Amino acid sequence: MTSLFDPIDLGAIHAGNRIAMAPLTRSRAVEGEVPNPLAVEYYAQRASVGLIISEATQISRQGQGYPNTPGIFTDAQVAGWKPILDAVHARGGKMVAQLWHVGRISISDYQPDGGAPVGPSAIAAEGQAMKPDFSMTPFQVPRALTTDEIAGIVADYVHAAEMAKKAGFDGIEVHAANGYLIDQFLKDGSNQRDDRYGGSVENRARFLLEVVAAVVAVWGADRVGVRISPSNGANGSRDSDPASTFLYVAKALKPFGLSYLHLIEGEPGTPMSIKFDAPQLAAEIRAAFGGPLMLNGGLTKALAQQALDDGRADLVSSGVPVLANPDLVERWRTDAPLNAPDKDTFYGGGARGYTDYPALESAPA
Ligand SMILES: Cc1cc2nc3c(=O)[nH]c(=O)nc-3n(C[C@H](O)[C@H](O)[C@H](O)COP(=O)(O)O)c2cc1C
Repeated sequence: MTSLFDPIDLGAIHAGNRIAMAPLTRSRAVEGEVPNPLAVEYYAQRASVGLIISEATQISRQGQGYPNTPGIFTDAQVAGWKPILDAVHARGGKMVAQLWHVGRISISDYQPDGGAPVGPSAIAAEGQAMKPDFSMTPFQVPRALTTDEIAGIVADYVHAAEMAKKAGFDGIEVHAANGYLIDQFLKDGSNQRDDRYGGSVENRARFLLEVVAAVVAVWGADRVGVRISPSNGANGSRDSDPASTFLYVAKALKPFGLSYLHLIEGEPGTPMSIKFDAPQLAAEIRAAFGGPLMLNGGLTKALAQQALDDGRADLVSSGVPVLANPDLVERWRTDAPLNAPDKDTFYGGGARGYTDYPALESAPA
């Protein structure tokens, strides 16, 4: 029987175990959206996971939607990522960059021209955006992208993929989840276009598939992963038939031979609170995709191992538990108690709640 602690090849990326660090935005970047120097220690502390997926990194200024999130499109940002990769590799770890465009989840405050954020259609998300000062404000009505503009955004993904290579990452993950731009195209609640990027599921998936094809040309398919969230409704995302939409996506991604497909089940941070029969869907998506399936969402060690045993996943990712436990793999291996996460320090700030969670050796007895 396959164990969480067995290695796995994710395409060309060899992971020493089947527990990945899920991408976690920490809003601690410094001027120019350059990673915080503290991130070198933060990620190095967590290098014993099979694969680190970086916090979401915007591919362009237009793609940013939260305060102090790092980018991957300028030379200064690449220079900020390099020592992180060196430190993770020195500890024997592997790390991919999560490439991010938030689309309609942005607000004018972040836009280069102070204009409206962009999206597939002029439909505002339900909920609230975070301003640069961390206060909340209602989402804005986005400007619908013209058909011609979409190629420019695909080009921004290519540029970011090239910059991630320069920074020394082991690969990239295309963020197609959680109600951000690609997910906005995939789901019919946010995509009401009548050009070749809207309407049928084939058309709604076109933008994702163009992005994947373009970044595969930079990295090779065996170093590219994709993250999807059929069911969680994050950032007001909604689809009338998520099972059909995402089975189509999994099937359409199969011919690329990607490194992995990363599937979020349920609401972030809640164990499997699902709106339809997600366990069955995960197994179907895994079969349709045909490559390594990484499962995420409220997983304990027991639930994670169960997902492997049930054939719903080949590996898992863990977010908040890795945030609070730099040595989560060792703690799961030895059934050691876990540190409690401090929600107040998730976003913004410095070392507190970032690099000061104790590892087992230094944990108080
Ligand atoms: C503080 C925080 C930041 C997050 N940032 C990201 C992100 O940058 N990209 C992403 O795809 N998901 C992000 N998520 C979602 C997590 O990757 C993950 O899906 C979620 O926490 C559920 O997994 P878990 O129960 O193992 O934590 C974030 C979640 C939290 C709590």
